[in-house]
Amino acid sequence: MNHHELRKKFIEFYKKQGHQEIGQAALVPQQDASVLFTTAGMHPLIPFLMGDTHPDGSRLVNIQRCLRTGDIEEVGDATHNTFFEMLGHWSLGDYFKHEAIDWSYKFVTEELGIPKEKLAVTVFAGDKLRGVGLDEEAKQRWQSLGMERIDELVEDNWWGPVHSSGPCGPTTEIFVWSAEAEIPPNSLPGNDERWVEIWNNVFMEFNKTEDGQFEPLDQKNIDTGVGLERVLMTVNNYDSVYQTDVLAPIVAAISTDQLAHADRDVRILADHIRAAFFMIADGVLPSNKDRGYVLRRLIRRAVQAARKLDFTDWPLLTEAILGVYGPYYPQLLEQEIEAEILAEQQKFTKQLTKAVNFIEKAVQANQVVNDESAANLAFLAYQSHALPLELGYEILTEAGLVLGRKSFEQALDQKIKAHQEVSRAGSEKKFGGHGLILDTGELKASDETELKKVLRLHTATHILQASLRAVLGDQITQKGSDINADRLRFDFNYPDKLTAEQKAEVEAWANKLIEQGLPMNCVELSLVEAKKTGALHFFDHKYPDKVKVHYLGDSISDAPSKEFCGGPHVSNTNEIGKLKIIKEQSAGAGIRRIKAIVED
Ligand code: SER
Repeated sequence: MNHHELRKKFIEFYKKQGHQEIGQAALVPQQDASVLFTTAGMHPLIPFLMGDTHPDGSRLVNIQRCLRTGDIEEVGDATHNTFFEMLGHWSLGDYFKHEAIDWSYKFVTEELGIPKEKLAVTVFAGDKLRGVGLDEEAKQRWQSLGMERIDELVEDNWWGPVHSSGPCGPTTEIFVWSAEAEIPPNSLPGNDERWVEIWNNVFMEFNKTEDGQFEPLDQKNIDTGVGLERVLMTVNNYDSVYQTDVLAPIVAAISTDQLAHADRDVRILADHIRAAFFMIADGVLPSNKDRGYVLRRLIRRAVQAARKLDFTDWPLLTEAILGVYGPYYPQLLEQEIEAEILAEQQKFTKQLTKAVNFIEKAVQANQVVNDESAANLAFLAYQSHALPLELGYEILTEAGLVLGRKSFEQALDQKIKAHQEVSRAGSEKKFGGHGLILDTGELKASDETELKKVLRLHTATHILQASLRAVLGDQITQKGSDINADRLRFDFNYPDKLTAEQKAEVEAWANKLIEQGLPMNCVELSLVEAKKTGALHFFDHKYPDKVKVHYLGDSISDAPSKEFCGGPHVSNTNEIGKLKIIKEQSAGAGIRRIKAIVED
């Protein structure tokens, strides 16, 4: 069965049961800014599940594009995708468990033709937490249909809410046996991973309140979600979703190898680039924040996979994606999506080159003598240049410097743990236990998203200092700096309150520099040489014999900003966004304090 047939069959089947077909929502939720992406077909329907009247009636059906990144580490296996399409149907206070179960059984066995012997189902086992018992009604209905394999589970058979509160309820799921082997007598979805879940009927009859209570909803709803890729996989007896006709052409564009569909990197590249296409089509662009950051991560993971595969034919990949999805999603054809992806790829490649140079320099300086020092170096490259750890490992392995993966990984684990402990110890003092992944004293970040923000603010701080000197005079020096994910804080010597014009001038000067898209470079020099460059530093500070100088632009001699600084920074000013001064105040006699933010 191909995807065209499946789409049609599903919609037609539920139309026959009185459902009205409704359109799709975008991947970026339009009415709900609190969630990054549309993760299920029910998401745009929440108000109607809660009781609002839907203009198309109480029985609805559609196919909804979805994005889930919670399982991103699992992408590469046979069944997990970030982007996928969900076949869905809903009852808004109309039919309930009996009809939903009967129709799903009929569709799976008759329309999809999957024999009953290859099916198992699960029902909610009940739990005290929610005050809801075993779903006898669903169980009995399945029994009346002759279903023999019925498992009773708790967490896997409860769905929602999407937010901390909202509609939710027990579920019954349908699984298909995916292996060639005979099904063992006691095999059930809860104890045997060879069962693949294809169908989720949610009995949305509760509202979880903000204080954690589960109260019955006024109307009992059905929310059914069916993974298009998984159905195609099971119905065609494929080993993975990458053999289905929505993904196989994409896989074929990546590699002509017969077994490419089983290769983890091919799968990651196919999955992530497909997701990136849909995200960009729905208005997301790579950035360091929220949706843009998720997109950036997906593209960068895809680029890494492409690098491993020596894959370069991006136009062919584009053609494959548009070939499959163009007829259903014309918006994909209307935009220059490939160009956006390639621009991000170039940015990433530049950053990688820097990181690789950093590793190579250390290798040339004979700093890597064993797996422990190799792991240290990989970790340092990750911290200061955002080099993915896996890539650090690869580069060091290619250079013949890693003796054993295991000892390397052990050393790396220790390094990460030690770092977390140092961060934690530091942060406990400052924030009473809030975990940090970066804490240099000046810069603080507790997760990857914050880290990106902090890097932008850090480079912006250097630019701010250069701007203040340009506008107010060269006598300006730094008296203090503190950066977290929300803002930068910069203290400097100046006797008077800044006028509105001065502030505007400083901002304008800074943003002009940022817009030039200058690279942030770093050299390590002897203290004497470093001072000769004219880089800003504290006169009363005791520096080590060797110091790092960070400077903007290609040449240190005429750099608009150069400072003694250990980093880390963004690699190019165009990652910063726009600098905005939000506060200017006194911070003691003759000292002014500026708080500023960066905006996308
Ligand atoms: N909301 C359920 C799911 O996402 C069914 O649509 O699985």
